[in-house]
This record gives sequence, structure tokens and C-alpha cells, in this order.
Amino acid sequence: MFDLTLYKNTLSTNLIGQSIQYYPELNSTNTKAWELISKNSPNGTVVITDNQLKGRGRQANKWMSTPNKSLTYSIILYPKVQPNKMNLYSLIAGLAITDYLIEIDIQAKLKWPNDILINGKKASGILCESKISGSVIKSMVIGIGLNVNEKTTELPEELCDKATSLMLESGKQYQLEIILANILNHLENRIKNKETNSQLLDWEKRCAHLNQKVTFHSSGQKINGIFTRLTPKGQARINIDGKEIIFDSGEIVE
Ligand code: BTN
Repeated sequence: MFDLTLYKNTLSTNLIGQSIQYYPELNSTNTKAWELISKNSPNGTVVITDNQLKGRGRQANKWMSTPNKSLTYSIILYPKVQPNKMNLYSLIAGLAITDYLIEIDIQAKLKWPNDILINGKKASGILCESKISGSVIKSMVIGIGLNVNEKTTELPEELCDKATSLMLESGKQYQLEIILANILNHLENRIKNKETNSQLLDWEKRCAHLNQKVTFHSSGQKINGIFTRLTPKGQARINIDGKEIIFDSGEIVE
């Protein structure tokens, strides 16, 4: 059971997470967030559940989670920015999570576009979805799954060498409410105060594969190259046989 009082006492934002919709069980917090958007839920609303039954991941993957052990939540935003800022929002969400993990001595890294790795294993994934109207993003849902207190046996078996939780890496147990509120504090701070350029630099500093060889899946193709850096819009620049190619989407597989 999510402790709303503990959460509120830790939250120091003006907007993000001030409105919170808590459900003991839900199919997907992202799907619920879109339903709430259609009912005009306020900007910054957070949707959270203890037990997500049909979590959606990027590229039509599933996101599996153990009830009460991990954070599964979505943030509703009405940013009214150009659609090419979408990548930036998802990078900023990853940065906010790593801001807090680093604060509590967990050396988290980022994998483009927005996976959070600890000791090379995935602890968190982000699914950003948006609706565009005219030339602006009218509404956006940032969905975050973060493995917190899972033991190895509580992570999906097929991912046992690729996935991890905060507890597995640090040996400590965490209060989900405190983690969530702190991530939202960092997220609001980043959205309000930081220049795009400094966000991109921060992201590159925390990148797990900067200037390294990567195998990249994009539009059904497998590409080998060197991940050089981000573009000003947060796209990936990959050097393939001496030529720099820019990618809007895709996934680093190795
Ligand atoms: C990924 O790495 O593929 C992204 C995973 C995103 C999962 C989160 S859990 C909360 C929110 N609700 C969903 O259905 N998905 C996102």
C-alpha cells in the first residue's frame, strides 16, 4: 500500500506530482494516464499503482514488475513545445532518475535513449508518449518503471543476466514513496531550471557507451558503429565506417 502522507512530506515540487492518482492495481499507468488526460487531469499529475498487470515497454515490449517491490508510474504533462523536443523530455526523465540515484550513492549510468543501468544491468526503463496538435506537443505521458526492492528471483527469468534492482546492487531496502518524491523533485528542477545544452552535457557525462562501439537496432536493421554524442535535439550520432549518421529512435543492443 502506497503511503501518500510519506510521499507528500518528501515532495517539494510546485507542480509535478502535487496531484497524484493512486490505484492498488492497474493494467498500465500510461494507459490510465491517457484516460485521465481525456478527462482534463491537471498538468503534472502522477499516476501510480502497486501492481501493474500489463506494463507497456518501448518498441511493443512488455514491462514486468513485482507488486509492491518496484515503482511503476506515469507523469502527465502539457508542455506546448515543438514535437522535436520529445527526445529531450525522455532524456531529462532519465537524468532526473540518475540525479537521485547518484545522490544516494548508486552509480547509475544512462543508455540511449533512456535506460538506466547499474553495473551494466537495466534497473529502469522509460516510455514517453505524446499527442501532437498543430505544431506543438499538446499532451505527454512519461511512464517510468524502476526496479527497487526485487530479489533476483523476482525479476523476469529471461532477463536474469540483464536486469537488476536498487536493492540487488546496494544491499539496501528502500521506501518507494521517498524514491518517487525525490525523482519528481529532480525532474521539476531540471524542467524548470536547466538549459538544453547543460542537460545534454550532463547526459553525455553519465552515458554508459560514449565513444564506444555499439550494436544498434533501428527500423529493422542491425548496425555496428561508435556512439559519438548527442545532437542538440537529443538524437544519437553514430559513426559508421567513418560517416556520422543521426538516429531519432532505435535501441543499443550491445
Ligand atoms: C522500456 O524500457 O521498454 C520502457 C518501460 C516503461 C515501463 C513503464 S512502467 C510505468 C509505465 N506504464 C507502462 O505501461 N509502462 C511504463
